[in-house]
Amino acid sequence: MKHIKLGDLDVSRIGLGCMGMSHGYTGAGSDDAESIRTIHRALDLGVTFLDTAEIYGPYVNEELLGKALKGRRDQAVIATKYGLVSHAGDGPWNLDSSPANIRRAVEGSLRRLGTDHIDLYYQHRVDPKTPIEDTIGAVADLVQQGKVRHIGLSEAWLDTIRRAHAVHPIAALQSEYSLWTRDQEEVLPLLRELGIGLVAYSPLGHGFLTGAIRSESDFGPDDFRATNPRFTGENFRRNLALADEVQAIAAEAGATPAQVAIAWLLSKGDDIAPIPGTKRVSRLEENAAADGLTLTAEQLAKLDSLPPAAGGHHNEAQMRMIER
Ligand SMILES: NC(=O)c1ccc[n+]([C@@H]2O[C@H](COP(=O)([O-])OP(=O)(O)OC[C@H]3O[C@@H](n4cnc5c(N)ncnc54)[C@H](OP(=O)(O)O)[C@@H]3O)[C@@H](O)[C@H]2O)c1
Repeated sequence: MKHIKLGDLDVSRIGLGCMGMSHGYTGAGSDDAESIRTIHRALDLGVTFLDTAEIYGPYVNEELLGKALKGRRDQAVIATKYGLVSHAGDGPWNLDSSPANIRRAVEGSLRRLGTDHIDLYYQHRVDPKTPIEDTIGAVADLVQQGKVRHIGLSEAWLDTIRRAHAVHPIAALQSEYSLWTRDQEEVLPLLRELGIGLVAYSPLGHGFLTGAIRSESDFGPDDFRATNPRFTGENFRRNLALADEVQAIAAEAGATPAQVAIAWLLSKGDDIAPIPGTKRVSRLEENAAADGLTLTAEQLAKLDSLPPAAGGHHNEAQMRMIER
């Protein structure tokens, strides 16, 4: 597995998103044993960049990762996130990146992950109530204390990224980037100017780009795709054509659609690390093999010119938490 740098942090260029093992998608939490086997297989294959967050569950995804990493902590680069749980009483899904909240959050994450340091600690969403300078100042203190090694942001836009980086070097921005969600291409020039890496979340379009989802009944009502505009009604039906085009290019390349979606992201630069999510060993193996796939210029051009997706990439409530 090839490695790249996110700022000064060395990571496997394909990571593993652990969220769906415990949270968000149909089947989450149904087979922790297979999820742990998936994490172990990832480490064996050199996929050592593991992504979680305090809000996933909440808490249980970090616990699961901590359990899986017992005895193997040194082989992993752990990335987790704070700021979507307010410990002052408001609880989960409340933005709180105040220094006091971060100081509480980090202790919980360290305990659940069974480690004395977090390799990459992201703010999960920008908190309009707390100046970013105060937030990053508090995380920089954690770096001083050795509890955090590198600092990240998620779904922050240009001005916040610049202001944050002026307080302490930011190693990575984690935002949605995939064949059907390309607005990060507006942010990339700034990231490159500042030497910040881009961690591409939902690189498989929440599974849609793999072609494995063909009907709205493929996921249950508690699955967050059930309220995602791209996965509902007429948009869903229109977007199937997009998945079919990825499938056709995959057939030509002798690869799977998931591998094509990942290889396209890797072709965009040595500062981009996709973190496809899966809770299954077989899919982890399939996704990791994208490291060895090189698409032709013609295939890349076809992928670049795919029609835009029908529907926004988040529902309205989620969109309100995303800085644009
Ligand atoms: N910063 C943020 O705000 C944010 C937001 C969302 C996600 N994330 C992170 O990014 C990671 C990845 O994003 P994501 O999980 O939302 O979306 P994704 O990686 O685009 O897709 C994951 C979905 O695709 C399925 N899948 C995976 N590999 C497959 C394959 N080879 N063939 C067919 N289906 C496949 C998975 O199902 P199975 O699990 O059943 O295989 C899962 O339902 C998350 O785990 C999380 O760590 C961060």
